[in-house]
Amino acid sequence: MSDDIFTEKLELNYTEVAPEINFEEFEKVITSRRSVRVFGDEEVPDEVVQKAIEHGLLAPNSSNLQPWEFHWVKSDDTRSRLAKFCFGQNGAKTAKHLIVCVAKTDTWRKNSKRMISSLEEVNKKKGLEVPKAVKAYYSKVTPMAYGYMGPFGILSPFKWLFFNTIGLFQVIFREPMFPSELKTWAHKTTALACENIMLSVRAQGYDTLPMEGFDAKRAKKLLGLGCHDHITMILGVGKRSENGVYGPQFRFPKEEFIKKH
Ligand SMILES: Cc1cc2nc3c(=O)[nH]c(=O)nc-3n(C[C@H](O)[C@H](O)[C@H](O)COP(=O)(O)O)c2cc1C
Repeated sequence: MSDDIFTEKLELNYTEVAPEINFEEFEKVITSRRSVRVFGDEEVPDEVVQKAIEHGLLAPNSSNLQPWEFHWVKSDDTRSRLAKFCFGQNGAKTAKHLIVCVAKTDTWRKNSKRMISSLEEVNKKKGLEVPKAVKAYYSKVTPMAYGYMGPFGILSPFKWLFFNTIGLFQVIFREPMFPSELKTWAHKTTALACENIMLSVRAQGYDTLPMEGFDAKRAKKLLGLGCHDHITMILGVGKRSENGVYGPQFRFPKEEFIKKH
């Protein structure tokens, strides 16, 4: 693998100016997002959820391969069946919308090809070529990084051995080597989108509950999801009821978690 793919400085003649941000308002969004266990009767307009999911799609994601899907459950019937699969949690039962956030492990190859063709299309209009390093990234690096595992990971031990042998002598990536690590890869990125969604809902005046307390098998069947679809979390959306937040936000002392090197 050529190091140039990572180190080449691309001259793209593109500038994007960072806008000014009201930090106080930003902080208010962060600190007022709470896990709401009981939602009130107030409806949440569809536009709020639509906007929030669109904000989810803007989350940073691995190699821009967007290995996610968001299943917006708003019909009463499906919502109440899904709430049952969330162990009947009040936060699920009282939510006006449920968003099932799915990490996908079978779209990276297709999306790698789409990245090249999409960039070619955009650049063609400007009379520009897609930089070689970018093409090489999506045609060589991503298949090497996320592929070569074979069906059911049968080739994974060989992939692991290959990269770890090279890794004795040079800097090399170490994951994902096994299908379970590819799942983690997709969950990581999808969880970032989940946070964007939750903050967006809060910024629009409503609330959320992230849930991993659910029967994944039943939930997947209900939504027709397949074996390459992994539910990262289910988000309940609504307006917090008066006692819907169960207590002040609590975290262990920050010194325990912030390590400076
Ligand atoms: C991935 C994930 C799964 C969670 N699952 C549940 C859940 O099933 N039920 C629940 O009541 N809270 C759930 N929570 C909420 C956490 O308990 C909550 O975030 C934590 O207690 C901190 O509270 P805060 O979100 O109000 O700051 C989950 C949170 C995350 C990030």
